[in-house]
Amino acid sequence: MGMCVMDFPRRGDWGSRPGSPGWRMGCPGSRWLWLCTLRLLCIVPAGEPVQRGDRDTNAGFPKAMDNVTVRQGDNAVLRCAIDSGVTRVAWLNRSSILYAGKDKWATDPRVVLLTNSKTEYSIEIQGVDVYDEGAYTCSVQTHNHPKTSQVHVIVQVPPQIVNISNSISVNEGSNVTLLCLAIGRPEPVVTWRHLSPPVRGFASEDEYLEITGISKEQAGDYECQAVNEVSSPDVRKVQIIVNYAPYMSDGRSVGAAVGQKGILRCEAFAVPLAEFEWYKEEQRLSNGLNGVQIKNIDGKSMLTFFNVSEEDYGNYTCVAINKLGFSNTSVLLFEEKTSTILANWKGPGAVQDHNNAPAGMTSSLWLLVIIFVHFLFKF
Ligand SMILES: *[C@@H]1O[C@H](CO)[C@@H](O)[C@H](O)[C@H]1NC(C)=O
Ligand SMILES: *[C@@H]1O[C@H](CO)[C@@H](O)[C@H](O)[C@H]1NC(C)=O
Ligand SMILES: *[C@@H]1O[C@H](CO)[C@@H](O)[C@H](O)[C@H]1NC(C)=O
Ligand SMILES: *[C@@H]1O[C@H](CO)[C@@H](O)[C@H](O)[C@H]1NC(C)=O
Ligand SMILES: *[C@@H]1O[C@H](CO)[C@@H](O)[C@H](O)[C@H]1NC(C)=O
Ligand SMILES: *[C@@H]1O[C@H](CO)[C@@H](O)[C@H](O)[C@H]1NC(C)=O
Ligand SMILES: *[C@@H]1O[C@H](CO)[C@@H](O)[C@H](O)[C@H]1NC(C)=O
Repeated sequence: MGMCVMDFPRRGDWGSRPGSPGWRMGCPGSRWLWLCTLRLLCIVPAGEPVQRGDRDTNAGFPKAMDNVTVRQGDNAVLRCAIDSGVTRVAWLNRSSILYAGKDKWATDPRVVLLTNSKTEYSIEIQGVDVYDEGAYTCSVQTHNHPKTSQVHVIVQVPPQIVNISNSISVNEGSNVTLLCLAIGRPEPVVTWRHLSPPVRGFASEDEYLEITGISKEQAGDYECQAVNEVSSPDVRKVQIIVNYAPYMSDGRSVGAAVGQKGILRCEAFAVPLAEFEWYKEEQRLSNGLNGVQIKNIDGKSMLTFFNVSEEDYGNYTCVAINKLGFSNTSVLLFEEKTSTILANWKGPGAVQDHNNAPAGMTSSLWLLVIIFVHFLFKF
């Protein structure tokens, strides 16, 4: 602070304006004499303490409070402790006088005088905003020695996300950039996390989340957090949908006896969900025709034969299709004799699953146990 200008002539009785010769020279009237001193104080070279030269600094007056930290919108009280030796008092915002004694100099209606007593001189700034941040000075005249004490008003603003990318739907392999802009004081720290599936750590530690060649595993919900110490974080969520062509697990062949029910299944992973078609050789099957039913639920398809006949046995192809591509898998419906004890046990209409050896083994084991128990009770 090398220079500062005060708004003295705002009072009508001053007579001259800043910049005019009269202003530079004149400090008319005893009432304003000490204010002129204030002005002189402001021209003290930078870095030098304002109290320089005071003999009785041990008195410690005026004593403004420690720095004031206040949230945007709240009121800030600026207190200055004084002693009985003080003859004149003023509060300044940077270099302009807000209050001198009981006289208000500031035009801002948010500035009000709170206490003007022998021991305390306090003002209040109502509805503090960020531009009010800065140094405020309590200035006093005591035994013809002007003294000042400074307090910094620090304005805090809770973190707030002001602009965030919309949820998006992209194809696998695309480059994705999400943006999350936040305001606050102190400046909030912005981070991105992948929520579903939950991944440890941050997906990004700044406003930008950049994903090159996105994979389907990177789909899901992303959360942007803006954090500062003022209040709880501001949190927003964005969803990334990653579209990809269907891929299928191998189909399981199914055995069924003539006259029984048989169900062929296939499953496709795809975004958007796949549509299904069933073929026998080159022949496309239709729902309801030839005693078959096709049912599609959540990426799975079921081809049901309500009454299996000899002609139904064969090689079936399940095709899954979405806008990005298709995939197919084949499954066999093969003949299975009904005469086995196992088929009887499982009852009519049961679907025999030959690919699932462990499951078959457990049911056989169960059967043995039951037969064993049965015999045990007979004797
Ligand atoms: C008050 O705030 C100013 C500016 O941020 C800083 O330089 C000074 O050290 C602070 N004083 C105290 C007592 O915290
Ligand atoms: C303090 O001064 C700054 C800069 O001139 C101004 O923007 C702000 O409104 C003032 N605040 C008060 C309370 O006078
Ligand atoms: C948000 O940021 C984007 C990219 O910088 C910009 O195009 C858009 O206009 C912003 N939206 C708002 C509401 O500020
Ligand atoms: C994605 O980004 C990489 C690396 O920045 C670039 O080589 C590639 O061309 C980009 N792909 C698309 C589709 O923009
Ligand atoms: C199954 O089909 C055969 C021959 O087509 C028929 O005789 C039999 O009644 C049918 N069974 C049922 C349960 O519909
Ligand atoms: C079923 O047909 C497909 C082609 O349509 C073929 O690749 C596959 O080997 C056949 N499966 C059997 C068991 O014959
Ligand atoms: C199954 O996919 C193969 C290539 O993956 C393709 O040649 C064949 O025509 C497809 N079958 C059907 C029935 O769409």
